[in-house]
Amino acid sequence: MKPSVVLYKPLPDNLLQRLETHFSVTQVPDLSPDTVNQYAKAFEQAVGMLGSSENVGEALLEKMPALRATSTISVGYDNFDVAALNARKVLLMHTPAALTETVADTLMALILSTARRVVEVAERVKKGEWTHGIGPDWFGTDVHHKTIGIVGMGRIGLALAQRAHFGFGMPVLYNARRHHPEAESRFNARHCSLDTLLEEADFVCSILPLTEETRHLFGAEQFKKMKRSAIFINAGRGPVVDEQALIAALKTGEIHAAGLDVFEQEPLPLSSELLKLPNVVALPHIGSATHETRYAMAETAVDNLIEALKGNVEKNCVNPQVK
Ligand code: GLV
Repeated sequence: MKPSVVLYKPLPDNLLQRLETHFSVTQVPDLSPDTVNQYAKAFEQAVGMLGSSENVGEALLEKMPALRATSTISVGYDNFDVAALNARKVLLMHTPAALTETVADTLMALILSTARRVVEVAERVKKGEWTHGIGPDWFGTDVHHKTIGIVGMGRIGLALAQRAHFGFGMPVLYNARRHHPEAESRFNARHCSLDTLLEEADFVCSILPLTEETRHLFGAEQFKKMKRSAIFINAGRGPVVDEQALIAALKTGEIHAAGLDVFEQEPLPLSSELLKLPNVVALPHIGSATHETRYAMAETAVDNLIEALKGNVEKNCVNPQVK
């Protein structure tokens, strides 16, 4: 009999078939307590699980005593209680490489659309306001040759630095725990403190994962340190930003604009003040959301689960030590 796994995100047909070659798969809509009750036996027997965007903590793990590996279709894993997984010796697999270039493209889209006010002026055209030659009230600000500050220089930071340096002639500043010789030699990136980056960058780009250290890293004090002309971009995790402080900084003109793909609460509630500000571009967490990349991520996640359950954790494993 094949080992059982729970699948909590739909997969393309061929990837589902690949999974089914190895496992007996139970598909469930989500990981809510109701679903877990409804499919209690499948959860109880599962040695693996695969999906994304659901919280996995102790309460769920208690219902899954046979679990040995979980595979997320994402690079971020802040929705997993890693300590609880470690205590139960459950492997956590993720997709750190598949989405790098696509998320860097999303960051450039946010930079360009906020600076050049692409969304706002396109809406004005649709409303019929383009009735004569445009004046300064339609103008944006330049992107090329402005200074970009990258907070979090991982794979995505590197891909953003490459675009900024070669494509737009932008000087690159970065803040990260350690120096990245590759960023420095290939893109002339300069390592600096967060304060220096906030003071000097025209575009402050956050690509940080959510951890206890990064939660609300960007608050009132940080927005105050930025230039009044600065544009803040976030495509990492929403709670890295104190959203109320960001709203205040945008309203008082302490910073010029914000381009956001992630929020403290997702989906972003319609009541959010961010949606009322003309100098905000808000996207629905589309960082990696292209057909090609989401397919590549799903494929990696399927292979990750197959490999993890064979004991192969050399690649894409968050906690190989529990093997
Ligand atoms: C997207 O946010 C991811 O973590 O893959």
